[in-house]
Amino acid sequence: MLTKIRMNVDMPLSTIDRNIYGHFSEHLGRCIYEGIWVGVDSPIPNTEGFRTDVIEALRHLQIPILRWPGGCFADEYHWKDGVGPKEKRKRMINTHWGGVIENNHFGTHEFIRFCELINAEPYICGNVGSGTVSEMSEWVEYVTFGGESPMANWRQENGRKEPWKLKYFGVGNENWGCGGHMRPEYYADLFRQYACYVRNYGENKIFKIACGPNVDDYHWTEVLMSQAGRYMDGLSLHYYTFPNGYGKEKGSATEFDETWWFRTLKRTLYMEELIERHDTIMTRYDLDKRVALIVDEWGTWYNVEPGTTPGFLYQQNTMRDALVAGINLNIFHRHSDRVRMANLAQLINVLQSVILTEGASMLLTPTFHVFDMYKVHQGAKSIPLHVDSPAYEMNGERIDRIHASASVNDSGILHVSLCNLDHAAAEEIEIDIRGKKATHVTGTILTSEAIQDHNTFDVPDRVSPCAFRDYRLEDDRLIVRMPSKSVVVLAVEW
Ligand code: AHR
Repeated sequence: MLTKIRMNVDMPLSTIDRNIYGHFSEHLGRCIYEGIWVGVDSPIPNTEGFRTDVIEALRHLQIPILRWPGGCFADEYHWKDGVGPKEKRKRMINTHWGGVIENNHFGTHEFIRFCELINAEPYICGNVGSGTVSEMSEWVEYVTFGGESPMANWRQENGRKEPWKLKYFGVGNENWGCGGHMRPEYYADLFRQYACYVRNYGENKIFKIACGPNVDDYHWTEVLMSQAGRYMDGLSLHYYTFPNGYGKEKGSATEFDETWWFRTLKRTLYMEELIERHDTIMTRYDLDKRVALIVDEWGTWYNVEPGTTPGFLYQQNTMRDALVAGINLNIFHRHSDRVRMANLAQLINVLQSVILTEGASMLLTPTFHVFDMYKVHQGAKSIPLHVDSPAYEMNGERIDRIHASASVNDSGILHVSLCNLDHAAAEEIEIDIRGKKATHVTGTILTSEAIQDHNTFDVPDRVSPCAFRDYRLEDDRLIVRMPSKSVVVLAVEW
C-alpha cells in the first residue's frame, strides 16, 4: 500500500506554541511524593529534596510548562496550608485520591522551585470549588507582589524575598464535575468574579484560564464564551482516551489485544473533532483567536496496575501509549492557531506518565521518548499537509493507517512526524514537498516487537528510540518505509 503526503513549506500556518508540550502534576498517588519530592533526608539522591534523576530527565525533555496542584485536588487545596516551616504545616486528607494523609510538605515554594530546576513555567490552578475569592487573590499576591503587603511580607518571612514571575493561572478545575458540579451559567459568573481579583502586580501579567468543557459539552463552551469570553485568555478542554469510552471497562495498560489497540487509537483521533467543534464555537465570539484553547488534561486512562491502590491511578505505558502521544501532538500541531497549551496527565507515576519510579529506580516510558523525539517542533511553524492514507480496518471500523504533522523551524529545517497506527502492516509513504527537493535527511524511530511492549525496572530500554534509515530520495520525492506500530520523526533539508 502507499500513503501519499503532500505539503507546502512556503505556506506555513501558525507557530507551534512550546506550551503544547506541557505536563500536569497533581497531589495524586505517587506523582508529587516519591515521584518529584523525596525530602532532603531521603536516601534517594536529591537536590534540595527533589529527585535528581527526575530533574535531569525533565531538563532533557525541555518541558515548557507544568500545571499544579490538580486536577480535582486543586478545588480542595488551601494554599496557606502549604507554606511556612514544614513541621508546622497542616496535615489533611486527600479525599479525592485514596483518602491518604497529605502533609503539605510540597507547597507553593517547592512547586515553583521545582519548575526553576527543570526550566519550566509554573501554571497554578486555583480553588473555586471550596475556596474563597480572597484566598485566590491572596495566593497571587503572595507569589507575585513585590512591595509591602501582608502576603508579600509573609512570603519574605517564609524565605523568599523577591516575588516570583507567575504567568499562567487557572480559575478552578472541572467545575462542572469534581470542582463543584456547577452549571455553566453559574460558573461563568464565578469566573468573572474570581478572575477579577487575580491581579497583575508590577510587570507580572497573568494569563487567566477558565474551566472549559468536559469533552463534547459544547453548551459549556457556548455559555463561557458568550458570558465570560472577554475576561479570559484561555479556556481549558479535558479529554482522556478511555479505550471503550468514559465509564466503560478500561482494560489493562499492558495486557490487551489488537482490538483494544485499535479502539484506543480510534478514540484518540476524536481529539481532532473536539478541537474543531469547540474552536468553531469560540470563533463565533473570538474571530481573532485571542482566547487559547488549553487542553490541560489529556492522555490514556486504563485500569490501575494489579496490586496498586485504586485511587493512585498508577498505570504502565506501552507502544500503544507512544502512538496515542504521537497522534495527539500531531493534532495539536495542526490546530496550533487555537491550541496554544496542552498538559499531559500526568508527569510521573499517574496515568500516561513520561516517567515511572520505584524506590530509587526510575524509568522513561515510550511516551517520554515520543515527547523527546517530537520536541524539535517546539516553537516551529506548523506546515499544512494533506495525507492520503489507506485504511486500517478492524471489525468493520476504519481509521487512517498513517497520521502525520510537519513544521519548519527558524533554521529552515523541516521536521515530519509520522505514526503508523497499524498493529501489523508496514507502510510505504511518498512525501511530496512541493517546490523543494530534499538533499539531506536524518530520522529517529520508536517501535518494538509487540504492541504490548513496555519498559520495566528490570528491562528499562525495551522500547527506546534509534536511528531510522529506511528512506530514499527519488526524483523530488522522499519515500519512507515505516514498520507497523511505529513513530518516526524526520529532519529534512534542501
Ligand atoms: O487526572 C486525574 C483527574 O482527572 C483530575 O484530577 C481531574 O481533573 C480529571 O477528572
